[in-house]
Amino acid sequence: MTLNIYEDYQTLSQATADAIVKVIKTNPEAVICLPSGDTPRLTCELFVKQVIEERSDLSHITFIGLDEWVGIPPDNEGSCHYFFQHELFQYLSLSKQQVYLFNGLSNDLETECAKMNTVVSEKGRIDLMVVGIGMNGHIGFNEPGVSFGTYSHVTDLDATTTIVGQKYFKSEMPLQKGITLGLKHLSEAKEVLLIANGAKKAGIIKKTVEGEVTNCIPASIMQTHANGFIMIDKEAASLLDKVSS
Ligand code: PGA
Repeated sequence: MTLNIYEDYQTLSQATADAIVKVIKTNPEAVICLPSGDTPRLTCELFVKQVIEERSDLSHITFIGLDEWVGIPPDNEGSCHYFFQHELFQYLSLSKQQVYLFNGLSNDLETECAKMNTVVSEKGRIDLMVVGIGMNGHIGFNEPGVSFGTYSHVTDLDATTTIVGQKYFKSEMPLQKGITLGLKHLSEAKEVLLIANGAKKAGIIKKTVEGEVTNCIPASIMQTHANGFIMIDKEAASLLDKVSS
């Protein structure tokens, strides 16, 4: 694992967007997994700007969405579908065959998981997986207590997630379950970037980077990834003992 600390949210987001563009330039058939949430919003904006300016060819990439709330319709502004549609897809001409998102409204969520696992295994790998980190150390909806050996799964949401998750919705939403890629996908991904910004993430970043590797803090799995990068701004790094940049 490598720790990269950036001056601020802007430079962190630019570095993340650059990294995504670099993977696509190196491998036009790259399989890219991105998260939704507040953290990746500026990364998406800068990524879109760059691919439009550079007229990058995205016609052979595969895009995978990290997770989705169960039971939340895609046109709800708090859904991951909505995020990807508004931050990425409306600007990029990706075909339907290139995009794989979990359907959180499916009445057969196990099949949804199996379908996503098949996509990844048939592609052979995820080339670049960008993830955020929750206040409880979750990655996607890999909640505290999750097995590191799990692929896609449906899970009950941790209490922290159901409370913090309200920030994405206009009115209070009953959030109970999520569907997500698993940490086994993360450990098998060629490259992983975990991004975080702001002082509110400093405590969980300290546990993730300097604490023991434990499924109580799912993001601590990053310590074991040879090609894993923790990319954070100075505020999120503010509680770390050993700081490198
Ligand atoms: P955030 O969410 O980017 O909105 O902070 C991160 C997460 O819960 O994974």
